Amino acid sequence: MSSSSNVRFTIQPGGTLSGKIRVPGDKSISHRSIMLGSIAEGVSKVSGFLEGADSLATLQAFRDMGVRIEGPENACVTIHGVGMHGLEKPKHALDLGNSGTSMRLLTGLLAAQSFDTELRGDASLSGRPMRRVTEPLKMMGAQITTATDGTAPLKISGGQKLKALNYAMPMASAQVKSCLMLAGLYAEGETRITEPGITRDHTERMLQGFAYDVRVLANCVSLTGGGQLIASNIDIPSDISSAAFFLVGGSIANDVELTLSHVGMNPTRIGIIKILQLMGADISILNQQNVGGEPVADLVVKSAPLKGIVIPRELVPLAIDEFPVLFIAAACAEGETVLLGAEELRVKESDRIQVMADGLQALGIDAVPTDSGMIIKQSIIKGGCVQSHGDHRISMAFTMAALQAQGEVVIEDCANVATSFPNFTHLCAELGLNIQVTVDET
Ligand code: S3P
Repeated sequence: MSSSSNVRFTIQPGGTLSGKIRVPGDKSISHRSIMLGSIAEGVSKVSGFLEGADSLATLQAFRDMGVRIEGPENACVTIHGVGMHGLEKPKHALDLGNSGTSMRLLTGLLAAQSFDTELRGDASLSGRPMRRVTEPLKMMGAQITTATDGTAPLKISGGQKLKALNYAMPMASAQVKSCLMLAGLYAEGETRITEPGITRDHTERMLQGFAYDVRVLANCVSLTGGGQLIASNIDIPSDISSAAFFLVGGSIANDVELTLSHVGMNPTRIGIIKILQLMGADISILNQQNVGGEPVADLVVKSAPLKGIVIPRELVPLAIDEFPVLFIAAACAEGETVLLGAEELRVKESDRIQVMADGLQALGIDAVPTDSGMIIKQSIIKGGCVQSHGDHRISMAFTMAALQAQGEVVIEDCANVATSFPNFTHLCAELGLNIQVTVDET
C-alpha cells in the first residue's frame, strides 16, 4: 500500500469470532529462515513462510545480495544457500520498510561482510533506536555510522575483522541478542551474550537446526565464530503474536468457540496465554507436538469472564508484542489491570504506551499511561475513532475492541497490517466480525 493512501477499518459493534482458522506463519522465524538459509551450504526448503511485507523485505534484501530464492508460493520458499562468505555487494541501499527485525539482525550479519552496505527503512523504522546494536558491534570491531540521533540510515563498512564479545545486554531484546550472534558467527573467538530477561530464542534453535554449535546456559548464550551452517528444511508454525488477537477477541466476545491450529508454542513466546489464563480466560492447548525444533499446538478459546490482574514482571518479555491487544482484554476485565516494566513498548513500531492510551481513551476506556506501562479499569467501550499511527498491532488490537463496543469502531492508518498479517480482515470477516476496509487516496 502506498504511503499516500489511508487504509481505514470500520467495525460494527458486536459480532463474534467462531470457527477454525490457521493464522499465517511466524514473523520472527520467517526472517531467520531467510537469513540462515542464505548463508548455509546447500538448499533449504521452507514451508509456512509469512508472506507479509516485513519478511518479504528480508527476502528481497538477500536477493539483492545475490541469493537465489524461489517463491513464496503457497507460503513455501526455496533458498539456494551461498555459504558464509558467498553474499555479494548489493547495487543499492537495502530498503527494510517497517521491519525492525530485518534491520537489527542484518546489521550484525553485514558488519562482518567484505563489502559496504547501507540500510534504510520507512519513517517509523527511521525513528527507532539502533545504537543498541551498533554500539556492541563497534566493540567487536565493526564500522557503522548512524544518523546523529542513533537511527537509520545505517552505513556499514565491510572488510573489518571482528573479535568475539562478552556482552551483558542492558535491555531484554531478542533482536540485539540475535544481531550479536550473527556477527559472532564471523568473529574470532567465543561470543557470549547475557540477557537481563528471557527473550525469544528462535535464532539459537534455528542455528542448532543448521548444525551450528550454540551453547545455552540459563540466561547466557555463546557460540564460536568460523564454523559453517548446513542447509535444513523448516516448517514454520503459525505466529502466536497473530493468534493473540483471536485469543483476546475470542475471550471477550459472547458465545465463542474458536480453534486456532498449528500455533507456535515456543516457551519464550507464550506470555499471552499465561497472562490471559491468569485473567480467567478459557484456552485449551491440544495436539502438542514438536515440529523442526519448535513446539506447536492447536488452541481452543471460548468466551470467559475476565478479571483484572497485576501482570507479573517476568512475563513481560514473553508477551512483548501482545500488549496492545492485552490492553483491550484489560478494558473488559473486572476491576483493574496494571502493567509495569514494559518501557520497551515506547520504542516499537510506534510508542505503544502513548498511542494505545490515546486510542483507549478515545473509545471511552479508563486508561492511564505510565512511564513503563498502563493502568486500565474495566470500562464500557463506547466506540469511536482511533489513530493507529501506522502500527499494525495497534490496528488489529482495536479491531477486537469492537466485539464489546456499543458503537462503531473506526481505525485509521491500517495499511501496515500487511507487514505481519496480510489476510487479517478476511479471517475476521470469515469468523463473524462485521469489518469494512476502505482506502482513501490522500
Ligand atoms: C523480535 C524481537 C522483539 C519483538 C519483535 C520481533 C525478533 O523485539 O518485539 O517484534 O524477531 O527478534 P525486541 O528484540 O526489540 O524486543
